[in-house]
Amino acid sequence: MSSSIVSILYLISALLFIFSLRGLSHPDSSRVGNILGIIGMVIAIITTLIFKNVLSYTEIGIAVLIGGFIGTIIALKIEMTALPQLIAAFHSLVGLAAVSVAAAAFYDPESFNIGNIGTIPKSSLVEMSIGTFIGAITFSGSILAFGKLQGTVSGNPIVFKLQHLFNALIFLFIIILIVFFVLTQSPSIFWAIVIISILLGFLVVIPIGGADMPVVISMLNSYSGWAACGIGFTLSNNLLIITGALVGSSGAILSYIMSKGMNRSILSVVLGGFGGEQTNVKVSDQSDKIVKQGNAEDAAYILKNADSVIIIPGYGMAVAQAQHALREMGDILKKSGISVRYAIHPVAGRMPGHMNVLLAEANVPYEEVLELDEINHDFPMTEVSFVIGANDITNPAAKTDETSPIYGMPILDVEKSGTVLFIKRSLATGYSGVDNELFYRDNTTMLFGDAKKMCENIVKALS
Ligand code: TAP
Repeated sequence: MSSSIVSILYLISALLFIFSLRGLSHPDSSRVGNILGIIGMVIAIITTLIFKNVLSYTEIGIAVLIGGFIGTIIALKIEMTALPQLIAAFHSLVGLAAVSVAAAAFYDPESFNIGNIGTIPKSSLVEMSIGTFIGAITFSGSILAFGKLQGTVSGNPIVFKLQHLFNALIFLFIIILIVFFVLTQSPSIFWAIVIISILLGFLVVIPIGGADMPVVISMLNSYSGWAACGIGFTLSNNLLIITGALVGSSGAILSYIMSKGMNRSILSVVLGGFGGEQTNVKVSDQSDKIVKQGNAEDAAYILKNADSVIIIPGYGMAVAQAQHALREMGDILKKSGISVRYAIHPVAGRMPGHMNVLLAEANVPYEEVLELDEINHDFPMTEVSFVIGANDITNPAAKTDETSPIYGMPILDVEKSGTVLFIKRSLATGYSGVDNELFYRDNTTMLFGDAKKMCENIVKALS
């Protein structure tokens, strides 16, 4: 009886998670999506605690308190710009959990209803070893991704000869170990699988350079989902299987969308070597080039005399937290009858949807916020492109310079508009380390300064 109630409640949770994902796919419905996800998770936790064979509520309570405390502190302290590395750090914990659960099941199979030590069914051993393999790769890969994004490890791709063959051989070796593990149930083979999978996790992420890290993070997200799915099989927990599969598949879809946004195949991302400071990154001497420089009053004059303005936000807007001042500026321009829209590049900022979240926080109407393919053809008909803290996503080298690490990435064609206003603090390069020749074009005016301060000054000048 109770098992059928558990199944029904788990099914309700799973449906809520699916509706939650559906809701999160659009800004209008994202708040409802979030709430549905929270309700689904509360039902899942309560059901598990009440109906499953819980051995000790005290231990669970202590773990929840410690984890909840650490999580709350991190959530309160984390900067928006550091979210990608936080996500990577959390993924590593999911990977570690998968390995730990598999180890617990292996050493105490009776508690997991999978037989006794030495007589665990082969199907359980296969599930266990696949969960361990994916979990260990997720663990080490995410730790390295965290280090690269945090800057504690160099973001440059580390490549060596026959690297892919080497990784393929390690992968093959792990499969052989899994076969032996299933046949022998040997603890030393189990730990060999763990250690070699951890090594493979590092090896898979080291060749991936800075510019591809967003895709890698979402791939690790996907792996962490599959690892959780593996834990679900070990624990015979249907909800964990479904939830893990949802995370795994949505992470995989996000990776696909992002690599499409970068105009790259998932395979070429995984094979690595893109971004960072390779030899073909051009940081040339620009001292002889002429830069047209303006101030807030100049910008206000140009903006209020335009009919149409497209705003292109980038990472610098997030750093400066300029979104509120920017929206204020947009409101003033709209009141004067000027068309104001926002162009969002798929990898603007440092995480998927980074710009959308910030603009939504500043109450920019969703209908003014357009994706690259919805707005790119409008730049030639636009008088002013207002680029705020963005760089790589506007760099024409992505279209023209085959040697550039960002070659092939679609960009926002701001240079096709009448005037380009660039707010940034210097002529420094962006994330990919590539110079942007747009700064030196005739129709560009650089507005040097912090994005928020510059916007506030433009607002003053406009008012
Ligand atoms: P970037 O190319 O990194 O350029 C940001 C610019 O903002 C910098 O050149 C910097 O120039 C300026 N800036 C920094 N702080 C500022 C401030 N307080 N005020 C004004 N300007 C400031 O950013 P983007 O154009 O958004 O492109 C995103 C890049 O990040 C891509 O290369 C992408 O591949 C990569 N990436 C994306 C993601 C995701 S998922 N979105 C994740 C990781 C990496 P100054 O120093 O001169 O001010």
